[in-house]
Amino acid sequence: MRVLITGIAGFIGAHCAHKLLSGKHDIAGIDNFNNDYSLKLKNDRIQWLKSKSDKLTVYHLDISENQKLFDAFNEFKPNYVIHLAAQAGVRYSIENPHACLDSNLKGFLNTLEACRTHPVKHLIYAFSNSAYGTNNKTPYATNDSSPIKDFDWDAHNPSPSSSSAAWRILNIGGSPTHRVA
Ligand SMILES: NC(=O)c1ccc[n+]([C@@H]2O[C@H](COP(=O)([O-])OP(=O)(O)OC[C@H]3O[C@@H](n4cnc5c(N)ncnc54)[C@H](O)[C@@H]3O)[C@@H](O)[C@H]2O)c1
Repeated sequence: MRVLITGIAGFIGAHCAHKLLSGKHDIAGIDNFNNDYSLKLKNDRIQWLKSKSDKLTVYHLDISENQKLFDAFNEFKPNYVIHLAAQAGVRYSIENPHACLDSNLKGFLNTLEACRTHPVKHLIYAFSNSAYGTNNKTPYATNDSSPIKDFDWDAHNPSPSSSSAAWRILNIGGSPTHRVA
């Protein structure tokens, strides 16, 4: 498999890549190496991955930059994409709302478009446990009732959070007529 992982220097991305490299897959990772938390930790994760395998390509780029993202897709030609690049910190998103918008919405849309125009077999996207809202049932399950699932998208006055807006973009990208996966 040729797997492209966005957010490869992050917590989940690095461990995901480590697991896949054990399976001798060709892996490419994308990360903008921002300093929302320790940059040393992110660089150390990449060194850890490189010490594991030489089948790793790392693109230092920002997914909000469409052309650079498309160039990486063109060059690596992934079969599978695991999208984990995001500004995940809640406090960081309050202090840096534009970074949040660029990564979580614009970057996400660019990633969906890259998957559509460079067809991949499957896209996996990490959502947010915030989607489960005040659900008291544990463990959570994807078929649980949730504020996102139950949201009336056709209502005239929705004020979606960035997560629900991203969910909406995914709904469009994943519809039968615009299928990405
Ligand atoms: N860690 C958890 O417990 C958890 C739980 C639920 C959902 N998630 C979701 O999984 C995803 C990954 O989480 P994580 O814990 O690995 O986060 P993380 O912050 O450790 O990793 C995200 C990576 O994405 C990179 N990145 C951010 N914006 C970018 C951009 N514009 N272009 C390129 N790279 C960019 C960052 O530099 C970072 O290395 C997020 O969407 C997060 O919301 C995580």
